[in-house]
Amino acid sequence: MNISIVGTGYVGLVTGTCFSELGANVVCMDTDEVKISKLKKGIIPIYEPGLTELVERNYPGRLRFTSLISDAVAHGDIIFISVDTPTLADNTSDLTNIYNAVRDIALCMTGYKVIVNKSTSPVGTGQSIKREIQSILKMQGKPFDFDMVSNPEFLREGNAVVDFMCPDRIVIGAESIKALEIIEELYARQAALGIPLVSTDIETAEMVKYASNAFLAAKISLMNEIANLCELCGSDAGIVSEAVGLDKRIGRHFLNPGPGFGGSCFPKDLRAMLGIAKDNGYTPKIIKSIIDVNEEQKVLMFRKIKKTVGRLKGKTVTVLGLSFKPGTDDIRESPSIAIIRKLLDGGAKVKVYDPQAMKNTQSQNPDLNVQYCQNTFSASIKTDCIVLATEWDQFVCLDFDHLKKLVRTPVFVDLRNVYNSDDVKKYGFSYTGVGRS
Ligand code: UDX
Repeated sequence: MNISIVGTGYVGLVTGTCFSELGANVVCMDTDEVKISKLKKGIIPIYEPGLTELVERNYPGRLRFTSLISDAVAHGDIIFISVDTPTLADNTSDLTNIYNAVRDIALCMTGYKVIVNKSTSPVGTGQSIKREIQSILKMQGKPFDFDMVSNPEFLREGNAVVDFMCPDRIVIGAESIKALEIIEELYARQAALGIPLVSTDIETAEMVKYASNAFLAAKISLMNEIANLCELCGSDAGIVSEAVGLDKRIGRHFLNPGPGFGGSCFPKDLRAMLGIAKDNGYTPKIIKSIIDVNEEQKVLMFRKIKKTVGRLKGKTVTVLGLSFKPGTDDIRESPSIAIIRKLLDGGAKVKVYDPQAMKNTQSQNPDLNVQYCQNTFSASIKTDCIVLATEWDQFVCLDFDHLKKLVRTPVFVDLRNVYNSDDVKKYGFSYTGVGRS
C-alpha cells in the first residue's frame, strides 16, 4: 500500500514509521524543510522510545521524507493529515494548518484518494474538509472521486510505538464501504491480533477521541480531589485508589494522584471541548470542572511545598523532573514547570534536573530563572527541599543515604507518591506525599 503522511510531527512521524514497519510504502511530508533534512540524515526531532530504531530500519526503503506536497500526493493512495491544531484564546481550535494542508492536497490530486484526518479537530471538521476538497476539485474542473475518513489517534507519548502497533481499538469513521475496506486492509495486521476495529460515521469517530480524553482526564482530576480530601481526613489516597480501581467498572488505570495532568492532549482537547460545546450553545459542567481541578492542583502542590519549606525567600528547592510525564522530553503544560514558576515567584532559588527535558525547557522557557544541573546529586547540593515532580525511573530509586550528605535540609516532597513515607524517613528526611497525612 502507498501511504502519505502530511504533517510529520509527533503523530505523523510515529504513524508513518509504524506503517512502513508493517509493510506499507510511506512518504512523510512536512513543510518544515529543516525538519525534513534532519530526518533524511537520521536525526529524529523528538524523544520517543523505539522510534529511532524503527526509522533506521525502514529509511531509506519503505520510508521516505519530503517537503513537497506534490510528491506526497502523487505517492499516496491514502493520505493522512496529521498537522497540529493548537487551541486559541477562546478555546476554539486553530485549524489553519489543516485547511492549508487540505487545499494543497486538493490542488495536487490527479485521481481517487482516501483522505484520512488524524489531527484532533472539532466534530464536523471531516465534513468541512470534504466540502473544501469538493469545491477545489470543482473549481479546477477535476472530476475525481475521493473519500473522507476520520481515524483518531490514541498514542501516549513515551509509549507511542507500542500504542500504534497494539492499540486497545482502532476507530474508523467513513462514509463509503470502499474507503472503509481500504482502511480496514491497512490495519489488517492489528485486526489479526484481535484488536477491535470500530467502524462508524465521521462525526462519531471525531467525538470518540475527545470523549476518551475527557474520561481519562476526569479520572485523574477526580482522584486528585479525593486525594486532597484523604489528606484532610487522615486516609491514604494510595490505598484508596488501589481499592477503588479493583472495581472492574472503575478500573485501575489513571487513578494515581499527583500534580495534575499535562501534555499536548488532555489540556488542549478539554478546552477544545468547551469551545465545541459553546459553539453548540451548551455548557458542560463536568468538563469545565476537570480543567478547574487540574489548575487548582498545581496551586495546591505549590502550597504543599511551601508548607514544608516555610519562608521561600533565601531557600533553595530542587525539582526532579521537568517533562509532563516520564519517557518524553515534552514539557507542554507540564505541572512541574507551573510549580517551578510559583516557587520562583515566591522568592525561592530553584535547581532542576531532568534526564531528557532540560533542552526543551531552556529553549521554550528562556525566562525561567533556574539552575540546570547535570544529575540528581549536583541538583541536591545545599538544597532545602527535594521535590519529585516527574516519576522518571532514575528518580524511583534515589540514593537517600548519599542525598542526606548533600542537602542543607533533609526535606522530601513526593508529588507522584513513588515512595513509602517510612522508607524515606529512615534516612532522616521528612516525607510529604499527595493524599497522605
Ligand atoms: C494522552 C492519552 O493517553 C492518549 O490516548 C491521547 O491520544 C493523547 O493524550 P499523553 O498526553 O501522552 O496521552 O499522556 P498520558 O500518559 O495519558 O498522561 C497524561 C497526563 O496525566 C500526564 O501528565 C500524567 O502524569 C498524568 N497522569 C496519568 C496522572 O496524573 N495520573 C494518572 O494516573 C495517569
